[in-house]
Amino acid sequence: MNHLVSPSLLASDFGNLSEDVRLLNRSMADWIHCDIMDGVFVPNISFGFPVVEHVRKIAEKPLDVHLMIVDPDRYLARWKETGAAILTVQYEACVHLHRTVTEIRRLGMKAGVAVNPHTPVALLKNILHCIDMVLIMTVNPGFGGQVFIQESYSKIEEMKDMIRSGGHDVLIQVDGGIDTVNAPVLIEKGADVLVAGNTVFSSEDPADTIRKLKMLEE
Ligand code: DX5
Ligand code: ZN
Repeated sequence: MNHLVSPSLLASDFGNLSEDVRLLNRSMADWIHCDIMDGVFVPNISFGFPVVEHVRKIAEKPLDVHLMIVDPDRYLARWKETGAAILTVQYEACVHLHRTVTEIRRLGMKAGVAVNPHTPVALLKNILHCIDMVLIMTVNPGFGGQVFIQESYSKIEEMKDMIRSGGHDVLIQVDGGIDTVNAPVLIEKGADVLVAGNTVFSSEDPADTIRKLKMLEE
């Protein structure tokens, strides 16, 4: 049970956001995943600074902020002020990725890099020494509730091998279509952090679903 669970607020009830954050506070969730979409990098717009500021005031767990936006360098300091503990940028949105992740760390946040389903994880080889987490997207980013892409398993294994052989201290996060059935397989393949949106918030008892995701045996 070494893995972490980071429920995604994208699937929460925005009309009762405070209550859903309190639910996560009381649950076995480790982090709170905030999906930021700009309508350019992905064909959807979610929420931004004012909403995450509100979440931060209530949340008792680290905010795991996943930026699905173009040119994220414009807002790194602002995300730090807003309360992000972990800030993940998309590989495909960063021309000078080394500069971006170095700045995220300099600002005092953990740096994550997300790869879309079509992006080979091998492209991260020369950045692993300066990041804290790789996010392997297991759906195409933009929407909750999509079907898990099966080819993701081999990417996780390949990434785990790269991290181990390089002696890096980097977590593997998986995001998109995660449920209680594929979660144990993902952990077995090497995932360290499970993001789950609909599986948690569309379930009858979200706290119990989080517990189930947390208590999986490897
Ligand atoms: C997708 C987001 C995910 C999303 C996951 O673009 O990055 O974090 O909220 O939602 P589910 O778990 O419902 O697939
Ligand atoms: Zn996400």
